Amino acid sequence: MRLIVVGTGAMATSQANHFKAMDGVEIVAAVDTDPVRLAEFSDHFGIEKRFLSLDEAIAWGEFDAATNVTPDRMHHATSLALIAAGKHVFCEKPLAENHADALEMAHAAEAAGVINMVNLTYRNVPQLQYARGMVLAGQLGTIRHVEASYLQSWLVSRAWGDWRSESRWLWRLSTSHGSNGVLGDVGIHILDFAAYGAATDIDHVFSRLKAFDKAPGGQIGEYKLDANDSFTMSVGFANGALGVIHASRWATGHLNELKLRIYGELGSIEVTHRPTDSELRGCLGEDIETATWRNIDVPAVPTNYERFVKAVITGQQPDPSFRYAADLQKVIDLAIVSEKERRELTLLPPVEIVSMPEIQVFADLEPLPVATEMPALRLMDDTLWQEPEPRPAAD
Ligand SMILES: NC(=O)c1ccc[n+]([C@@H]2O[C@H](COP(=O)([O-])OP(=O)(O)OC[C@H]3O[C@@H](n4cnc5c(N)ncnc54)[C@H](O)[C@@H]3O)[C@@H](O)[C@H]2O)c1
Repeated sequence: MRLIVVGTGAMATSQANHFKAMDGVEIVAAVDTDPVRLAEFSDHFGIEKRFLSLDEAIAWGEFDAATNVTPDRMHHATSLALIAAGKHVFCEKPLAENHADALEMAHAAEAAGVINMVNLTYRNVPQLQYARGMVLAGQLGTIRHVEASYLQSWLVSRAWGDWRSESRWLWRLSTSHGSNGVLGDVGIHILDFAAYGAATDIDHVFSRLKAFDKAPGGQIGEYKLDANDSFTMSVGFANGALGVIHASRWATGHLNELKLRIYGELGSIEVTHRPTDSELRGCLGEDIETATWRNIDVPAVPTNYERFVKAVITGQQPDPSFRYAADLQKVIDLAIVSEKERRELTLLPPVEIVSMPEIQVFADLEPLPVATEMPALRLMDDTLWQEPEPRPAAD
């Protein structure tokens, strides 16, 4: 597969290391509007063909697929251009700045018949995949409660560089530079972590978002620092469970930590993922009486990078698709409105059902006799939300 890398910043380096290590993948060109970054990246990975614009790369055309690692705001225009040229697209998250743009990208990719995938990186965590397998096999019984958090501390710590002077952090703090703050940046990851892990969809949202004062006048150079850097969300899930989901860039002491706790009538599980390690623990069966938690060993799973390459070779559309990411984007849009209006909002019921992809990896997970049927992955229609049912007046 001949691959080009569009956007050669920090995440592109991480991606290129994965793609370079795979048989059958050749990175044939790199594209960046910044000549310095383009040269550094291409020199480092030994890429000869270099383009200062995507248009030039498309005019050249000698590639099968592109990985789109541009900043969030650029995903829409660049992915649409690649799709129009008939190229398969692996796009960084969040797919777009809003649901309407994301849906347009999903429609375009589907109409063109190209493989489209969004890099929701934490699908690569084997413990998350195993947790979902346990839920689908009914091992936790009916799910009642879900807690999920994504904690970062780069507004406090300098471990990843200094946000006060580096453009790669500053664009993430500014809505006029296309960022939906921590909600759009890593919120999209934790929404997926929670919904995918619990094998259901979010259908009710009440959210609070906050951008804290960080610089004199709330501005550094061209960057107005108005994008949220903490959010909290209470959610309802399609399977009837309640949940709390939150994320912050102010979580001092946590560089990058995701946690998911799923509580069911037959047992509970907890997934923790950090840059250094991942863990799955469960409290199941007789352990419920003593609240004893045990580590659960899990097998490795293929990465998004491996699944994208396989999809291009086989022509089988993988998950998470642009359409899935567009649905998730709806939750982000809803959270922003919820903060403005200080009220809960409800997603419309699905208009289309697709079956859940089978989890071959965990064929050994036996369903328990009392297994509840989990709802299939849902696709929503174009309308964003509906008013919640009026609540009965309190006595
Ligand atoms: N999946 C993950 O876990 C993960 C992690 C980090 C970043 N990301 C995502 O990856 C994307 C890039 O993030 P980053 O940290 O590498 O940002 P970055 O700012 O370091 O790099 C972006 C690069 O894109 C280039 N660029 C901008 N406009 C362009 C255009 N029109 N055509 C070609 N190049 C263009 C910039 O010059 C820059 O070199 C973002 O969407 C971000 O959300 C995902």
